[in-house]
Amino acid sequence: MHTVRVAVIPGDGVGPEVVSATLPVLRAAAHRAGAEVDTVELDWGGEHYLRTGRAMPPDAVDVLRGFPAVLFGAVGRPDIPDHELIWGLIIGLRQALDLAVNVRPVRSWPGVRTVLREPDGIDLVIVRENTEGEYAGVGGRLHPGSPRELGVEVAVHSRAAIERATRYAFVLARSRRGRVSLVTKSNAMRYGYTLWDAVCAEVAREYPDVEWESVLVDAMAARLVQRPRDLDVLLCGNLFGDILSDLAAVLGGGMGMAPSANLRPDADVPALFEPVHGSAPDIAGLGIANPVACMLSGAMLLDHVGLPEAATAVRDAVAHALRDPSLHPADLGGTATTERFAAAVVAAV
Ligand code: NAI
Ligand code: MG
Repeated sequence: MHTVRVAVIPGDGVGPEVVSATLPVLRAAAHRAGAEVDTVELDWGGEHYLRTGRAMPPDAVDVLRGFPAVLFGAVGRPDIPDHELIWGLIIGLRQALDLAVNVRPVRSWPGVRTVLREPDGIDLVIVRENTEGEYAGVGGRLHPGSPRELGVEVAVHSRAAIERATRYAFVLARSRRGRVSLVTKSNAMRYGYTLWDAVCAEVAREYPDVEWESVLVDAMAARLVQRPRDLDVLLCGNLFGDILSDLAAVLGGGMGMAPSANLRPDADVPALFEPVHGSAPDIAGLGIANPVACMLSGAMLLDHVGLPEAATAVRDAVAHALRDPSLHPADLGGTATTERFAAAVVAAV
């Protein structure tokens, strides 16, 4: 039997709730495909930080290197400064493992109502450069506590990082509707984003079958709301990809619906799968979190480890449950608990 070893980091808030709703679904789907999911749970995140002063242990990256894939819930607690956990865990891992792209598919689901008026809904993938840009971590605070206090945050855009994200987007577009929309702000930011435009134009020559355009991020925000169906693959730097992901997630049904994968296509490092949403402290502990984003992240994980039939089984089972409004969790306007929804998805698998 094919055994897939998965490191699981449930994290904080709704993280553990959506992860524990997801694991039985992945197990059932893998089983159907003649495989087994063997999980090792890691107690990293807020609790770990309070106990040790770090969100994860110093050898965390070595621990993860022993796995082909990681399933991560979310981090973030009201009693710990956000940047400590975000940098101490998820951004730290993206950089340390050099997880080049964050892939965030968003689509509409039959049975799920959204704010969109368009009957065609939305079906796109955000490909976000995942290691530098505005989240490079370059900068500092000067004169702390004095009236002259100063914060400097430098965006870093390297040709190498742009190129690998761009190539990923073009290859992906080929397997979809063949359109890449590069998202920049190269009218106002003259150095980094003009480099994105130039590199994208170069890479595009290798993919003459893929149409591409460069769109300013503010215009893209408007277009996403007005005509999302025209968009196929959105290629973004780190900050714009982060922001537009939440907007797109809501157009597709809500924060509880959007999955993601952190990947490095050219190297043998673990890939990390996580919902786009955070730890949702406003609903944590109530048992009402929507686990779909985490389940679909799990489906991406199964695809990644070579179990595409199992991945399809997860997506089909989620789609099946979503067609029944009595199973909808609160964010979709229903009254079902996380557990009830999860049980229905396991049964459908
Ligand atoms: P959030 O995504 O946690 O929540 C935004 C809104 O969406 C809230 O109203 C929440 O209830 C709702 N929501 C999120 N996930 C949901 C789900 N599965 N089902 C139903 N509703 C859901 O973003 P927010 O509030 O900005 O951040 C909360 C904490 O999460 C912060 O500490 C933040 O730093 C952290 N965070 C962590 C991330 C990660 O670990 N990758 C990503 C984003 C935020
Ligand atoms: Mg985000």
